[in-house]
Amino acid sequence: MSVWIFGYGSLVWRPDFPHVERRAAWIDGWSRRFWQGSTDHRGVPGDPGRVVTLVREEGARCWGSAYRIESGNGEAILDRLAHREKGGYDRITLDIHLAAPGEGAVTGFVYFANPDNPNWLGPAPLPDIARQVRRSHGPSGANTEYVLQLAAALRDMGVEDAHVFALADLVKEDGAP
Ligand code: BEZ
Repeated sequence: MSVWIFGYGSLVWRPDFPHVERRAAWIDGWSRRFWQGSTDHRGVPGDPGRVVTLVREEGARCWGSAYRIESGNGEAILDRLAHREKGGYDRITLDIHLAAPGEGAVTGFVYFANPDNPNWLGPAPLPDIARQVRRSHGPSGANTEYVLQLAAALRDMGVEDAHVFALADLVKEDGAP
């Protein structure tokens, strides 16, 4: 049996676990938002960066990457991801739609930050989010890198995400307020 993981954040551009295959994929009914604070990767305690989570939105579609991992490796990889994402993410099970024609959907794991977790930041005007991203750094590097790499990976896939692309444009703007 295969284990699938859907990545919609850093896992889109930097999957750091062994996988058998990677597919363009989407999940329905969820939007990607930079509403989760990061105090362990792209920010520090007291000065968090912003990373993505999923929020429920009827009719929305979130594109990302689906990874198939060997079932023998499954528990070890999931444990590693759980440790890596201990800053507020829970693992949920969702239908993951594989983009290739005729491939249908698989069931797999997705990491999701509940609004009641201690690092939750929630919505804010996009220019404020951009300012926070531009000043934030953490053990995994600059918060700007996270935003720009994610936007570049989604553009390479040829998929749309207005929130990510608008934020990436603001983050790139020289001298943005
Ligand atoms: C991801 O899909 O890249 C991801 C997002 C949040 C936590 C863990 C992974």
